[in-house]
Parts: sequence; structure tokens; C-alpha cells
Amino acid sequence: MKVSIDLGACCGQARCYAIDPENFQLDESGYALRASFEILVEAEDKARMAVASCPEGVISAE
Ligand code: F3S
Repeated sequence: MKVSIDLGACCGQARCYAIDPENFQLDESGYALRASFEILVEAEDKARMAVASCPEGVISAE
């Protein structure tokens, strides 16, 4: 699964990181750090919860 984050629209809610810190990294200001990354199959369930957790809806998965 590939995750994409609209970094320009991220406002630092950090819920993604709270759920899945291994995959959803934040910069020193608390904003999402990586625009896109692959999720290992065995880690997809947690990553999907992180995707759904963003109140701004700026994370997508395919
Ligand atoms: Fe940003 Fe949403 Fe995560 S606003 S820090 S992508 S929960």
C-alpha cells in the first residue's frame, strides 16, 4: 500500500503519528514529514487507521 500526504495542507494534528509512529513521521515542528511512502503488507491495518484519523483528510492510501 502506498500512502500520500498533502504536506501543504497538513496542519500538524499529529493523530497519524500517535497511531502509527513507525510510518508517519513528523518534522521538528510537528508537521508530516514525508509526502509518500510504502507500507508493508503486515503493517497496513495500523496505517489505515492512521490515514482515517487525520481530521483534515489530507492523507490518502492506494
Ligand atoms: Fe498532518 Fe493530519 Fe497527520 S494534519 S500531522 S497529516 S493527522
